Amino acid sequence: MTEIRTVGVIGAGTMGNGIAQVCAHAGFDVRLVDAAEPALDRARRTIEKSLGKLVEKGKIKAEDREAALGRLATAIDLDALAPVDFIVEAIVEDAAVKKTLFTRLDEITRPDVILSSNTSSISITVLGAATRRPDKVLGMHFMNPVPLMTLVELIRGQATAPESMAVASSLCTRLGKTALEAADYPGFIANRILMPMINEAIYTLMEGVGTPEAIDGVMKLGMNHPMGPLTLADFIGLDVCLAILNVLHDGLGDPKYRPCPLLKRMVAAGQLGRKSGRGFYTY
Ligand code: CAA
Ligand code: NAD
Repeated sequence: MTEIRTVGVIGAGTMGNGIAQVCAHAGFDVRLVDAAEPALDRARRTIEKSLGKLVEKGKIKAEDREAALGRLATAIDLDALAPVDFIVEAIVEDAAVKKTLFTRLDEITRPDVILSSNTSSISITVLGAATRRPDKVLGMHFMNPVPLMTLVELIRGQATAPESMAVASSLCTRLGKTALEAADYPGFIANRILMPMINEAIYTLMEGVGTPEAIDGVMKLGMNHPMGPLTLADFIGLDVCLAILNVLHDGLGDPKYRPCPLLKRMVAAGQLGRKSGRGFYTY
């Protein structure tokens, strides 16, 4: 396997821009690709702002910010990924769309390149089966906000080779992250546990048990959570939460994972949380 110098990130939304930022800051050349040009412009601004905050707080030097920005290239064409040494996919949480992309990535990139997905819940085995290199397909699940959160959940698909997991794990170390491994079951570890809590908070709101402020306040002040579950859902994106709950519900077949009707209604109305300006709160 070639040494990793250039990382390709696909999807420049909430997660992709953070992943691109930490890779560029760690010294990798980064090619960030998104199908939507405005998403790339937004991502660059977000990365500039985030690196700026880290400079202000003395966590990185001003010249490191400039160097990181200099290592970042953006494109709308997937062919820009031909020379990369490692892929992190962070597009929409939709199995069919991701499968199509993995088949395409398999054609574009060198055969030795690891294709990782930042999916929150979708089967890595299924994504691997869409390629001719299932041994080099794995889950690399970063947490939001990527520049601040240290965990990366690494997911081993049915056919993922131990060598691929070892490469991904050492990449996490170079990014300053801690990798913890999970098996390929719907939602892995993080969202198997987190999403039922968020869903229950939405049922609690729908049934009038408390206001959003009361529900979030109880979990912040009573359980020391840094954000209440409704604030966190807005932060993650309500469309992403719904997609994950659907994967848990369909994949595990247990009614305890059924998405709350209020969540479905808000997503149908385009109230997606922070990224759309409105969710349980207004931004
Ligand atoms: N880059 C750089 N700095 C950032 C930043 C970013 N992206 N986001 C926030 N900051 C800075 C803020 O500017 C702030 O700086 P100051 O101290 O100078 O004001 C500092 O970080 C702390 O931020 P805040 O005061 O606004 O808020 P906080 O103290 O609550 O910390 C937080 C922010 C770390 C996000 C914290 O609220 C938190 O840990 N929240 C929970 C996050 C979480 O649970 N993430 C996992 C989501 S689930 C997931 O990711 C998986 C999935 O598949 C859905
Ligand atoms: P997002 O909606 O903020 O961004 C998705 C981006 O992907 C958009 O910019 C969109 O234009 C782009 N895109 C969609 N289809 C594409 C395609 N075929 N080719 C190229 N670009 C395409 O989503 P997000 O919240 O960043 O989530 C991305 C992935 O990360 C999902 O799999 C999600 O489950 C996962 N994830 C999300 C969070 C979170 O807190 N939001 C946390 C961890 C993991």
